[in-house]
Amino acid sequence: MATERPLILSPDAEGLSSAATLLQQGKLVAIPTETVYGLGGNATSDDAVAAIFEAKGRPAFNPLIIHFADKQSAWLHVAPNETAEKLAAAFWPGPLTMVLPRRSSSSVSLLASAGLDTLAVRVPAHPVVHAVLETVGCPIAAPSANRSGSISPTLAEHVCDSLGTRVDAVVDGGPCDIGVESSVVAVLEDKVVLLRPGGITREEIEAVIGSIDVATTNEEESGAPRSPGMLERHYAPATPVRLNALTVEADEAYLGFGENGQESSTNLSEQADLREAAANLFSMMRHLDSVGASCIAIAPIPETGLGVAINDRLRRAATPESP
Ligand code: TXA
Ligand code: MG
Repeated sequence: MATERPLILSPDAEGLSSAATLLQQGKLVAIPTETVYGLGGNATSDDAVAAIFEAKGRPAFNPLIIHFADKQSAWLHVAPNETAEKLAAAFWPGPLTMVLPRRSSSSVSLLASAGLDTLAVRVPAHPVVHAVLETVGCPIAAPSANRSGSISPTLAEHVCDSLGTRVDAVVDGGPCDIGVESSVVAVLEDKVVLLRPGGITREEIEAVIGSIDVATTNEEESGAPRSPGMLERHYAPATPVRLNALTVEADEAYLGFGENGQESSTNLSEQADLREAAANLFSMMRHLDSVGASCIAIAPIPETGLGVAINDRLRRAATPESP
């Protein structure tokens, strides 16, 4: 249990404006939603998103839910279909998250969606998170505000106990009404799949759009996002990947880290800073995948802190996809 306390803000005009300012500065602020407290960061900042993963102490980069003030703002980042429009009309603002195709113009950090071509979007109903979203002017990435492996917080006190000063501030909005996370549904052209049960029931969803599928394995239990069809695979480069590379061949592209690869133009972090490396990971991999190299050779990354999640991701990228 953490002993040092983060800054506690009241849900009044002054507190909300401080929360918005901190978020604009790239800091992390825990914010009450109608489901659970979220560990919020500027979703368009790779750095802030890397800080979220670091604060949670997750061993892998799971894609995060991106929160918006209203439907119009969300639709700037994802392409809705007719079913998504119906669900938004019925349940937003509220505890429903939709996974939809990400627009190529979206400014949301690639790290926030773990490099996927989809984005999980939600318009929360709680007046505090809504007010912060209106003021801050950027989407907010927010997983539950607890260390990985502990239970989701429904009081500001729980956030302080779990995260301590790993979060810069907590807006104390009292207890969360619903107490379980939002329901996550993938809204694909041909089918809708419930990926995570939550605040809106399957029956409520089916009353609006008819029968839906349910994912068989839950990511929260298995530790890895499991979802059908196009959502199954995380982004993997088409170019083969070679790990722990200390040297680079002429036709290879090199992804350096620290001292290794300082002469290469693509270095995850010359200062060997793991947070900076996490922030750069997905955009640099995408870039190197596009240069026509025979292989992406990647420098060794230390297996500590965020390095655990980075290496998890790199090992998956280096494993050839099964047919
Ligand atoms: O109630 C909630 O949803 C809370 C509050 C703070 O809003 N947030 C929350 O966020 O639970 P998070 O980031 O912990 O939930 C992420 C869930 C995971 O089950 C993840 O696998 C799924 O959403 N998810 C996110 N992006 C996805 C994507 N592109 N494809 C499939 N699943 C995705
Ligand atoms: Mg959680």
